[in-house]
Amino acid sequence: MYVGADYYPEHWPQARWKTDAKLMREAGFNLVRLAEFAWVFLEPEEGRFTFDWLDEALDILGRNGISAVLGTPTAVMPAWVKEKYPEVMATRKEGHRVNWGIRKNNCFSSGAYRLLSERITRAMAEHFRQTANVVGWQTDNEFGHPYCYCDSCRREFQAWLRRRYGTLDELNRAWGTHFWGHRYGEWAEIVLPDDEGGHNPGLCLDWHRFYSWLNVRFQAAQVRILREVCPQHFVTHNFMGTFSELDYYDLAADLDFVSWDNYPVWGAPAVPYGASLAADAMRGLKKRNFLIMEQTAGPGGWGTFGRNPRPGELRKVCYQQLAHGADGQVWFRWRTCTAGREQYWHGLLGHDGRPLRRYREAAQVAGEYHRLAAAVEGTTVKADVAMIYDYESIWALRIQPGYGPVGGSNFHAAAQRYYDACFRAGVNLDMIRPTDDFTAYSVVIAPHLYVLPDPVARALADFVAKGGVLLTDCRTGVKDGTNLCHDRTLPGLLGDALGISIEEYEAIPGDDKDGYAVIGQDDLPGAFTARHYCDWITPRKAEVLAGYERWHMKPYAAVTRNRFGKGTGYYVGTLCEEPAFYDALIADVLKRAAVKPVVAPPAGVEASVRQARGRRLLFLINHTEETKTVTVPAGGVELLTGRPSRGSLTLERYGVAVIKLK
Ligand code: GAL
Repeated sequence: MYVGADYYPEHWPQARWKTDAKLMREAGFNLVRLAEFAWVFLEPEEGRFTFDWLDEALDILGRNGISAVLGTPTAVMPAWVKEKYPEVMATRKEGHRVNWGIRKNNCFSSGAYRLLSERITRAMAEHFRQTANVVGWQTDNEFGHPYCYCDSCRREFQAWLRRRYGTLDELNRAWGTHFWGHRYGEWAEIVLPDDEGGHNPGLCLDWHRFYSWLNVRFQAAQVRILREVCPQHFVTHNFMGTFSELDYYDLAADLDFVSWDNYPVWGAPAVPYGASLAADAMRGLKKRNFLIMEQTAGPGGWGTFGRNPRPGELRKVCYQQLAHGADGQVWFRWRTCTAGREQYWHGLLGHDGRPLRRYREAAQVAGEYHRLAAAVEGTTVKADVAMIYDYESIWALRIQPGYGPVGGSNFHAAAQRYYDACFRAGVNLDMIRPTDDFTAYSVVIAPHLYVLPDPVARALADFVAKGGVLLTDCRTGVKDGTNLCHDRTLPGLLGDALGISIEEYEAIPGDDKDGYAVIGQDDLPGAFTARHYCDWITPRKAEVLAGYERWHMKPYAAVTRNRFGKGTGYYVGTLCEEPAFYDALIADVLKRAAVKPVVAPPAGVEASVRQARGRRLLFLINHTEETKTVTVPAGGVELLTGRPSRGSLTLERYGVAVIKLK
């Protein structure tokens, strides 16, 4: 199992490198990531390459048993690049070029930048292909910025649209350009949407698709070279969890596996539901395990920094990722920098280069991971419940949130509400694409599936008819694939599976202090509060699980459940304030689908299962500072202590356990 650190030898005198490598070895590290921001040290002037310093660093690391992932260094261009080729700098909406000197400031359609990127990638690949301890590559660093509004991007966008739509008539129809007389008569007339709140929604959605494609194409050129020159190495990229400006499924398609950068915010201690959702989303990109390429090692910040992770907190954050499919992990960063913007992004070593408490905690994790490696190898999460994680709905809801927005992204807030309830119930989820096959799952949760092309709607209805349990909610099915509103009564093609129709809906004003009281019945007991939005649901065949109290809402349902064929379709028409609402709902959904968690975790304890044929590992993580007792199946073995599991297990604050189940 890979365990290590992001290391920047170019930041420190060469005389220090041996000490670093020795400390890494002593911590049990066997991997570093190097060079992703080192372009200027590798190609100080155009076409002159200087790899000797990196050879030396790799040699020292290798002699200490440490392998390396090399970053293609294109996330920060050397100053000579912008001097020589000013057109490679991205153009802001206002029309001026980005000022060089931060990072991620290139235009992805720039021919010059693409050539320079291919050249440094090839030069590095050819030089390091024989280096024994180089095992893989990371493309660029955290693709996703910046948006560029230059003429080259506009022309590329027009050409991309031409390939997508074939004719202008088709494009005009798809975008509905009859509105405000925005009909295009020439491809060259098409603009870049620099105001997403005002431009045509079809144009805006296609621009997101295009921008994603530009990044994927840029990466693909590097991947092609790396595969050609270094076929024995893996190729990965460091994704950013729920960052959603690119279609990560497409970006992951060319890679061997996904890596991602986990940056818990060290605010007030809280259950980090989001890091589990992100982990599942990352595992979902290729339906395989992932590597943590950057794991925050301490308080982070560029100007101000957060609190210091408390003893045990870093360790449990690692186990959370291991539990969800991490097959290794790299700390960001090894030593806290004395220079530059990230002086306050604290590493395992302090500014003074001395190993800290955090280093010792990282060493403990490394030791444990090595001990667990044989048991963990080949295992992954196999979930009965899937959640649809759809970039097109995310983008379309950003373009027109409808209500709110809540917590920055209505899609993410919706996904997180259902996700958290599954987490509290101790149930694993897979994050999937709307076009994936649903048949492997008992339950599909489709939060805010706003963009719903007909084939996806039919597949979901079919899933229910054949015995699946579908849980979906408000704003689902409003848009077609080109961001036009469907001209059907909501929920469109899901109407029969859900047994409802929705003729009207509304945003609940933020100054309505009481919200709309929701009264649950039968299988969804309790009194709750609807906020932000509600559908005026007319049940056709569906049972009503919750209704409203306000006089004008009395005829309408808030939550419905419908038998359809052999399965069940649930619909939630609002956002409830109380987590208890989602807990009760998910409990009913899981019961219907006969999905049973292995344990019922107490509040603040996370349970996740990794498995392979004949082997099941139950991970328990106490995210709180209180001692927790968990009722666990008897007959297994807790692998960190070697003790048999006897029905009850105590987790100290931030404690973790890995039980090999019988
Ligand atoms: C990540 C990035 C790292 C470092 C870190 C802390 O997003 O990949 O290079 O900048 O954030 O700011």
